[in-house]
Amino acid sequence: MADLIVSTGSTQLAWQGRLATLLELLEDNCLPVEYQCRSGFCGACRVRLLAGRVRYRQPPLACLSKGEILPCCCVPESDITLALEHPP
Ligand code: FES
Repeated sequence: MADLIVSTGSTQLAWQGRLATLLELLEDNCLPVEYQCRSGFCGACRVRLLAGRVRYRQPPLACLSKGEILPCCCVPESDITLALEHPP
């Protein structure tokens, strides 16, 4: 099965399933994502999902607006496209 593709503007990363979360993939590739709790509670890591689907290990507690995801506690379920600037 082909790797899923995580696009972040001009960068494309391969999701090979060896990492626990999407945040780990972004960190491994030195992409800027803020975080605090790393467990879906604080919302500090929220980014906009422009395309594709993610799956949470368990439902996050932080409030999310439509189109936002928490990379600290999810994994891609399809090819995805992220906007890494933080929402207002
Ligand atoms: S770092 Fe706290 S919700 Fe992701």
